[in-house]
Amino acid sequence: MTSSSDFKPTNILIIGGTGTIGAYITSTLLSSPDPKPYTTLTLFTRPGFDSDPSSAKAQLITHWQSLGLRIVTGSVESFSQTDFTKVFEDGSFDTIISCLGRATLQYQPKIIDAAEASEKVKWFLPSEFGTDVEYNERSKDELTHVGKLALRKHVREKVKRLKVTYVVTGPYFDMWLYPTPGYPQAGGFEPKEKKAWIVGDGEGKVGFCTMWDVGRFVLATLLHPAQSFNKALKVQSFVVTPNQVLAEFEKQTGGTKFDVTYTPLSEIEKLETVLWDKENIDGKPQPKPQATPVTLRRIWAQGGTLYEKNDNELLEVKEEDSDTLEEGVRRYLRGGYKTETFGVRE
Ligand SMILES: NC(=O)c1ccc[n+]([C@@H]2O[C@H](COP(=O)([O-])OP(=O)(O)OC[C@H]3O[C@@H](n4cnc5c(N)ncnc54)[C@H](OP(=O)(O)O)[C@@H]3O)[C@@H](O)[C@H]2O)c1
Repeated sequence: MTSSSDFKPTNILIIGGTGTIGAYITSTLLSSPDPKPYTTLTLFTRPGFDSDPSSAKAQLITHWQSLGLRIVTGSVESFSQTDFTKVFEDGSFDTIISCLGRATLQYQPKIIDAAEASEKVKWFLPSEFGTDVEYNERSKDELTHVGKLALRKHVREKVKRLKVTYVVTGPYFDMWLYPTPGYPQAGGFEPKEKKAWIVGDGEGKVGFCTMWDVGRFVLATLLHPAQSFNKALKVQSFVVTPNQVLAEFEKQTGGTKFDVTYTPLSEIEKLETVLWDKENIDGKPQPKPQATPVTLRRIWAQGGTLYEKNDNELLEVKEEDSDTLEEGVRRYLRGGYKTETFGVRE
């Protein structure tokens, strides 16, 4: 039997691999140079993805299939723990990557339990790819962290055999640049109108990851199992201040100054009270969808992404291997992550 120090992933199953960040991870793993950190890569996706072959999702999956992706269909909602164990056994999957979104994080405990119950699965990467939910004393009270903290508790209490790795990336630079609809004061850039909104004075550093780098860091994690087992890895593309981002925008758009609105953190905290409906103590609070991004932006502006040392070096990712501020801004000016086609169209 192989010891955990010489384990290498062989058959990887990616769940939620068509999602906003999952698509970057799936694409990066499929196009990684040889030797790849797997023999087979399989996507678990909901049935019916191919019912309209002209849809963006069907075209993306067809493109990925031409690169070697295998497909298993199912539903994280309706599949039981036993159904998942069967999927894992049938495919001999030894490594599972979950990229499920916030709406389906609640199903992860049963998927983890199924992996723990299967003899085949050795390594599980739950859906994290974001803010450090155990950053400081305040983290446990952040309403945005409830689902991910519950999963970490579940893993501590229930998982004995599986190795688990959380890939903590901080904010996606590509997304952070877009103002939150209806609440631009929470931060963002509108280069066409030469406008920017910055939280605080813009001098506090933020550790960012570009979305392509999230894929690269997951790839690096898979290439370093022993170093990654049972860790929450902190990975970052670059650490910059919002004012440095502003200066880069001004430089790349011809030198004209942007019209900048600076909003104090205390104003953002007041906005959070409204968006989370915190004062509704009698009834059931009805949070607005923008509550999550606004709270996360406040956490990032307060320094919740800063470390004495990140884990890039542990994964042997050098500075020249990851994206720069310059590249991140250039991509946004070219259309941003919303126009990414992952090679389906050039
Ligand atoms: N750091 C940041 O700035 C940042 C930003 C956004 C997200 N994140 C994190 O990244 C992780 C993934 O989030 P995401 O936004 O990328 O996920 P997402 O796009 O919302 O969803 C991922 C996938 O979940 C699958 N899914 C299965 N059942 C579903 C259902 N009933 N309804 C909807 N989707 C279903 C879908 O795959 P199929 O269609 O193939 O079935 C979907 O593509 C989360 O942990 C999130 O917190 C971080």
